[in-house]
Amino acid sequence: MNLNKIDGSYILESFSENKDSEVTRLKYQVELFYQRELELYKKIGLKDGMKIVECGSGPGFLISNIVRDLPNCTATALEINPFLVEVLKENSTINGKKLFEVKHASIYETELAENYYDFAIARLVFEHLKEPAKAIAEVRRILKPGGKFVLISNDFAYHLLTYPAIPELDEMYTAYINSRFSEGGNPLIGRQLPGLLKKEKFDNINIEIICVHSGLEGDKAFVKAENVNISKSLVKEGFLKKETLESLIENWYKLFQQPDHVIFRQLFVISGMKSLNPVVENIKVDENDLQILNTLSLNIDDIKSLTSSEQEAKLSSYFIKRVSSILEQKNLDLNPDTKLNLFDIDSIAAAELSSIVKSDFQTGISISDILQKFSINDIIKLILEKLNTNSTDMTKSPDNNSGSHWLEGKL
Ligand SMILES: C[S@@+](CC[C@H](N)C(=O)[O-])C[C@H]1O[C@@H](n2cnc3c(N)ncnc32)[C@H](O)[C@@H]1O
Repeated sequence: MNLNKIDGSYILESFSENKDSEVTRLKYQVELFYQRELELYKKIGLKDGMKIVECGSGPGFLISNIVRDLPNCTATALEINPFLVEVLKENSTINGKKLFEVKHASIYETELAENYYDFAIARLVFEHLKEPAKAIAEVRRILKPGGKFVLISNDFAYHLLTYPAIPELDEMYTAYINSRFSEGGNPLIGRQLPGLLKKEKFDNINIEIICVHSGLEGDKAFVKAENVNISKSLVKEGFLKKETLESLIENWYKLFQQPDHVIFRQLFVISGMKSLNPVVENIKVDENDLQILNTLSLNIDDIKSLTSSEQEAKLSSYFIKRVSSILEQKNLDLNPDTKLNLFDIDSIAAAELSSIVKSDFQTGISISDILQKFSINDIIKLILEKLNTNSTDMTKSPDNNSGSHWLEGKL
């Protein structure tokens, strides 16, 4: 992908008259919403120790705050703009300590590992993209099954509001909307994001609005998060009249002289979960996991010819190793009669186990049964029941098998 040719409506060089003041605006825009955002991220499922990716991170102020507050997370910040990537690199270390990885790539082709991240964030990015569905599909690819995707977005029909109202603000936002549309962005995308997540097969989709209010955050927090240079670019591009901007600036300063004035702004927070498909393809395993998994090879053909007690013993030892490997507790003392939910098995681990049972033993087993009531021995019992049913079928009607694998098409 050609990273020098950025499409969409956030071309830093033309977005604002001054690149450095835009970086500063981004910093204070993060600060303005951060505490409320973090609470919401946690409510959606963000936990310390997770693997996080922020796509379109800009200079990296959000991801820096997150790894400061959740220090056991490992994080990647992905950004397309070469100037912002340089700022990001500077912000990615503190006193020689690496806070997060930097990836110079597009959200359309992240070049990041598949099924890897627990939590993905795209903040104020989608309103600038020409192909939002393509970007969602790519984020879905890099998330683990059960991983969460949070999109923080504007919808410029519903943006900064003041008391007393400033009519020129509406004109300025109309100009902003027209300018962004002309560049291929969609400044009204906030309302469409839940539907787009649904189309791209996300589950548990939710939308909330977070608000900040000058009576609570103070005026300064708002002033720093705005940047007149964006409006100046709108004048330069012919979307906004110079006189309107002048009058807007005048009324903006007058606002602060009103004792009961208000500035009020909101962001849309849309979230979804990558579906927990029981047939989990291409689960990402690191080198160590791979070595362990290679020693754990067993399938239905390996146990067919054994006596029933040998089958039970072999499956029992196999599943004890498999489950402790999935739970990343190599020395776990697993009793095959103990319900798996007592070992803190979560839905991702349950989906992985369900997928293994399906692919290795052609036995369907539901994730909720694993989560709620199954022990290893319950799983083994199901596998052996299937095996015996099919053995009986085979003795009864050998002609129906027409030379193909005896289990094919029967389970
Ligand atoms: C408004 S800024 C938001 C930055 C940051 N997320 C924040 O909240 O401060 C939008 C960011 O999206 C980035 N961006 C735009 N198109 C992108 C793409 N195709 N791939 C990755 N990043 C992109 C821009 O370069 C910019 O850094």
